[in-house]
Amino acid sequence: MAVNTTDELLAPIYTFLRCQTPELWLAEAAKPERLALLLREHAQLEIMAGQAAMTLIRQTLGRCPDSEASQGKGGEFIGAAVTAEFNDIDSMDLLNKMSKLAREELRHFEQVMAIMKKREITYKVVSGSRYAKQLHSKTRKNFRDKLVDTLIIGAFIEARSCERFAKLAPFLDAELSKFYLSLLKSEARHYQDYINLAGQYCSAENLQLRIDHFAELERQLICSDDTEFRFHSGVYQSEEEGE
Ligand SMILES: [Fe+2]
Ligand SMILES: [Fe+2]
Repeated sequence: MAVNTTDELLAPIYTFLRCQTPELWLAEAAKPERLALLLREHAQLEIMAGQAAMTLIRQTLGRCPDSEASQGKGGEFIGAAVTAEFNDIDSMDLLNKMSKLAREELRHFEQVMAIMKKREITYKVVSGSRYAKQLHSKTRKNFRDKLVDTLIIGAFIEARSCERFAKLAPFLDAELSKFYLSLLKSEARHYQDYINLAGQYCSAENLQLRIDHFAELERQLICSDDTEFRFHSGVYQSEEEGE
């Protein structure tokens, strides 16, 4: 039986996230003058999501014994310790899931750009919010630990995006509302994929510890005051700052 209703898709996400989006963020995001900024940033976030997945693919392939990245200048193998660590894991799952995810994110990018074009909104680079930067600043350094943390952060970004698309949808026009609701299914799956993958590279106990760690940090970033309004920002109360 397919899990398709919005409530069914969102239930595990509400459990995973420590807080729901504050009403003050939603009130700001629902202002018509915020729409161009939101769409421009959305297009950008889709590219970045695809890029993050492709970076994970490259880094994982870079750990394969016959990759150039794991060989010294004379062709000697220098990645033995790391590769031995990875031999017991079927990294094909990560490679396949990230490849599919990157393709889906780029498809979302195309869809946002098409909507922008129709509305004569030009693409402009939007400066990044503190959200992803601060989450990524807390990853551990060792390759395997960093991989686990990066996958968990990916899960939080996907889960929060999903939650915000659902919250925003009722405030948008029919076309955008339909589009945002159509994204819930893939973003909810992306969140699940990231968490499942993280669980392949650490024990269940460590996974939960790291989820708890990032859940609290994520909650603080979402529920505290922020200095600018962005799709993933905390609470920003505007005086003027238009698009
Ligand atoms: Fe997406
Ligand atoms: Fe996604």
